[in-house]
Amino acid sequence: MCLACSAEILEGEVVQPAAHALTEAEGERYALTCMARPQSDLVLDRGSYPPSIDGDAEADAVADD
Ligand code: FES
Repeated sequence: MCLACSAEILEGEVVQPAAHALTEAEGERYALTCMARPQSDLVLDRGSYPPSIDGDAEADAVADD
């Protein structure tokens, strides 16, 4: 799971039972668009990552310094 397709859900709902990289709480606010199935019209912010993923990116950047 590369997570490149992550998007914040600004409006609408999805189901994404195979999105195991997201916590339950993250799955309510973020979608992995390669596997999420819309349940309504959606407004998404592409390229937004949940804190658990963004936190890893920040930790990697600090480790590289
Ligand atoms: S998890 Fe890789 S494209 Fe969606």
